[in-house]
Amino acid sequence: MKIFVTGVSGQLGHDVMNELAKRGYEGIGSDIAPAYAGVQDGSAVTTMPYVAMDITDAKAVHDTLMNIHPDVIVHCAAWTAVDMAEDDDKVAKVRAVNAGGTQNIANAAKELDAKMVYISTDYVFNGQGTAPWQPDCKDYQPLNVYGKTKLEGELAVANTLKK
Ligand SMILES: NC(=O)c1ccc[n+]([C@@H]2O[C@H](COP(=O)([O-])OP(=O)(O)OC[C@H]3O[C@@H](n4cnc5c(N)ncnc54)[C@H](OP(=O)(O)O)[C@@H]3O)[C@@H](O)[C@H]2O)c1
Repeated sequence: MKIFVTGVSGQLGHDVMNELAKRGYEGIGSDIAPAYAGVQDGSAVTTMPYVAMDITDAKAVHDTLMNIHPDVIVHCAAWTAVDMAEDDDKVAKVRAVNAGGTQNIANAAKELDAKMVYISTDYVFNGQGTAPWQPDCKDYQPLNVYGKTKLEGELAVANTLKK
C-alpha cells in the first residue's frame, strides 16, 4: 500500500512518516519546500522519498498525485500560525491553504478513489461547552480565521468524498 503524506516538514507529518516506516508501509512525503525541511533528527522521514508540492496549486496537486497514484493520502499540510492568520493581509492566503489546498487534495483523492485522512482541529468549535465534544459533533462555531478555514477544509473533504 502506497501512502502519500502532505506537510511532512511539520510536526505531525514528520511523525506520521516515521510511524509508516516503523510499520513497514511505503510512505512518500511532501511539503512546500524543495526538499525535506523538517527536524534533522536522523529519523526515517529525513531520507524517505519526498516530492515538493504546493497544495494551493491545483494543477501541481493533480499532476503529482496522478503520477504517484497513492492508495491513501494523509493530509497534514496546513497554515497553522493561528494568531498570524488574523492579519488582514494573510486571510486570503490562509484560506487558500486550509480550504483551497484541502479541496485540491480531496479532488485528487476522489479521482484516484484513494482514502483521504484530514486532520481537523478543536478550533472549529467555540470552546464554550462544559462537556467533551462527541465524535462527529456538528456544532461548529469557529471563532477565528484559522478555525473558519480549517472548517472549510473539513467540509470540502466531507462534500467531495463519501464516508
Ligand atoms: N499542532 C497542533 O496542536 C494541532 C492541533 C490540532 C490540529 N492540528 C492540525 O494537524 C495538522 C498538522 O499540524 P502540524 O502541527 O504538524 O502543523 P505544522 O507543523 O505547521 O506543519 C504544517 C506543514 O504544512 C506546510 N505547508 C504550509 N503551506 C503549504 C502549502 N501551500 N503547500 C504544502 N505544504 C504547506 C508547512 O510548511 P511551512 O512551515 O513552510 O509553511 C508545514 O511544513 C494540520 O492540519 C493542523 O491544522 C494541529
